[in-house]
Amino acid sequence: MKSIESILAQDTFSKEDIIYLLSTNVEDRNKLYSKAAEVKEKYLSRKIYFRGLIEMSNLCQKNCNYCGIRIGNSKVKRYNLSDDEVLESAKFAWENRYGSIAIQTGEVNNKNFTERIEGLLDKINRATNNELGITLSLGEQSDDTYQRWFNKGAVRYLLRIESSTQDLYYKLHPNNKNHNFETRINCLKSLKRIGYQVGTGVMIGLPFQTLEHLADDLLWMQEFDVDMVGMGPYVEHPDTPLFDFKDILIPQEERFNLALKMTAILRILMKDINIAAPTALQAIDPLGREKAIKCGANIIMPNITPGYYRNDYKLYENKPCLDDAADDCKKCLEARIHLTGYEIGYGEHGNSKHHSARIEKS
Ligand code: 5AD
Ligand code: SF4
Ligand code: FES
Repeated sequence: MKSIESILAQDTFSKEDIIYLLSTNVEDRNKLYSKAAEVKEKYLSRKIYFRGLIEMSNLCQKNCNYCGIRIGNSKVKRYNLSDDEVLESAKFAWENRYGSIAIQTGEVNNKNFTERIEGLLDKINRATNNELGITLSLGEQSDDTYQRWFNKGAVRYLLRIESSTQDLYYKLHPNNKNHNFETRINCLKSLKRIGYQVGTGVMIGLPFQTLEHLADDLLWMQEFDVDMVGMGPYVEHPDTPLFDFKDILIPQEERFNLALKMTAILRILMKDINIAAPTALQAIDPLGREKAIKCGANIIMPNITPGYYRNDYKLYENKPCLDDAADDCKKCLEARIHLTGYEIGYGEHGNSKHHSARIEKS
């Protein structure tokens, strides 16, 4: 049996090593976190980059079994920000030197939506002197749509795989044409081919999920050679089908610890990628995001959605910042990051170094 020290001295991990690291007790997991923090400082810097998150609309044509804004949840009040509201949020990010924004919606794919996003990208770039790094998180789309948005200046795209194990994927999604595992993989490949910085991620602590699945997820991310990752704990939502399995879930605190371990292991495996401290961590622990920063994450997504819409973008329970405004989140995160001892990379894009290295190699 290897010791934690000998595993952490390695430059990369086998599946068995990862399972060992995911099973560590308190003392050993702190060693894992320190090692991840060390790697982050060596390969990146002490800077944490902001992506101002605009939850543009909760309209969604999908029915993912875990998600509070699935089309089947009739309790949700649907909203769709106007272009002006999105522009105001983007300007807030620019004026406050956030460097980047991320636009997120449920999944809608039609010609109008594609064109609306094209138009918005133009408007945002004009209003902010082309100075913001724009990330999109708008679900599965055609190659052509991805290419059109890229041509309009979007540089990063987030599309979580949710689970890299096909069987588990189909426990989380209805098994129909609209929720196809292969399609998801093909979208990620297409984003990479077009030239985006590609981000993905998984949920952690799902019903039916084992440590083996989680180890496979990390190895899959390494194999796919992603540029960015955001992965957080699964937080059950009462108005979803997956809530029926709440009794077989591991406790929230364990899901939280597993999410931190996943972050730390990924940082050691993929030294120069961008890793986000996901908001879902803070749904479980008020200091969740700071803890992720201390074990390898280097990206944080302050919510800049206008306050009165925030309550309606509830993917899971206990989502933080619902009653706050963009400026509150800014001050709050500034104080929180300051406490971790890291700095905020104001006015910088904070692009994925892994992506630049990947492009140079090819
Ligand atoms: N718990 C945690 N994360 C969730 N997401 C959706 N629903 C939940 C939930 N109940 C995540 C998914 C999705 C992202 C936008 O939010 O991973 O990709
Ligand atoms: Fe829609 Fe995304 Fe929620 Fe699935 S996870 S229901 S695609 S918003
Ligand atoms: Fe939004 Fe703290 S980050 S209020």
